[in-house]
Amino acid sequence: MNKIGIVGAGNVGATSAQRIAERELAREVVLLDVAEGMPQGKGLDMAESAPVERFDTRLIGSNDPSALSGCDLVVITAGLARKPGMSRDDLQATNADIVGAISRDVRRVAPNAIVIVVSNPLDVMTYVAFKNTGFPPHRVVGMAGILDSARFRFFIAEALEVSVEDVTAFVLGGHGDSMVPLPRYSSVAGIPLAELLDSATIDAIVQRTRDGGAEIVSHLKTGSAYYAPASAVAEMVVAIARDKKRILPCAAYLTGQYGIRDLFVGVPVKLGAAGVESIIEIGLTTEEIAALQKSAADIRENIAKLKL
Ligand code: 2OP
Repeated sequence: MNKIGIVGAGNVGATSAQRIAERELAREVVLLDVAEGMPQGKGLDMAESAPVERFDTRLIGSNDPSALSGCDLVVITAGLARKPGMSRDDLQATNADIVGAISRDVRRVAPNAIVIVVSNPLDVMTYVAFKNTGFPPHRVVGMAGILDSARFRFFIAEALEVSVEDVTAFVLGGHGDSMVPLPRYSSVAGIPLAELLDSATIDAIVQRTRDGGAEIVSHLKTGSAYYAPASAVAEMVVAIARDKKRILPCAAYLTGQYGIRDLFVGVPVKLGAAGVESIIEIGLTTEEIAALQKSAADIRENIAKLKL
């Protein structure tokens, strides 16, 4: 890839930029932020790590949205993060204004870009970016399923004292309290989870996964998670930049799949050079589909509160 823009040079944006640059996923990474000097300082600091880390990706910081000009991919992380006691939905009105404005900038200066949305509340902000860029739905995608699944996988590996590398797991639905971890589609080296852990342990892990973001906020107090979110962003960028056609849970625009229409909801997708190349419909039990539709209904209710 030639150029990747990261909007918001806070913890999630800066850490994503670092992971992307260190893996040389683009020739150039632009960090954009409204805070004067901040993206320039972080960009230069990261650039100065390049001789030691051995990467040739150029890093540029800017306060001017036109610096995104010609980007192939833009990652939107801008917006407020949660403080203790806040839900992701509390951020909605403010972050919708921020994400809406930046999306219109992207439309103007990088009309062919693929957009990855990270700002919260994730599924609603992805919809806001879709509406404000006017891009086709396969070029707008939300990060969160990989993060939630990574947390789920980590807790499973920890409970079983096995390598995280052998744990596969899927979390679908919205990136919120009604997310839908799917133990039935989770396995360790191909062995179904139910054969390895009792149902009480699985239930506890599912709940901890749902609360995973809040658990970090309660430790940090002044902000929310960023190392694992940035890893999830980088995995999506790898899939797109290298046309890997990975099957990953991402917030994608649904047009009737799973009985859901005109919403971005976390589902398994094929992610490659074109963006969301297809949406994969897996078989779900009545209970699982009900949980997914409940999660979708929550997202729809929140979108209805915005004037789009
Ligand atoms: C998280 O789950 C902040 O939503 C983000 O950590």
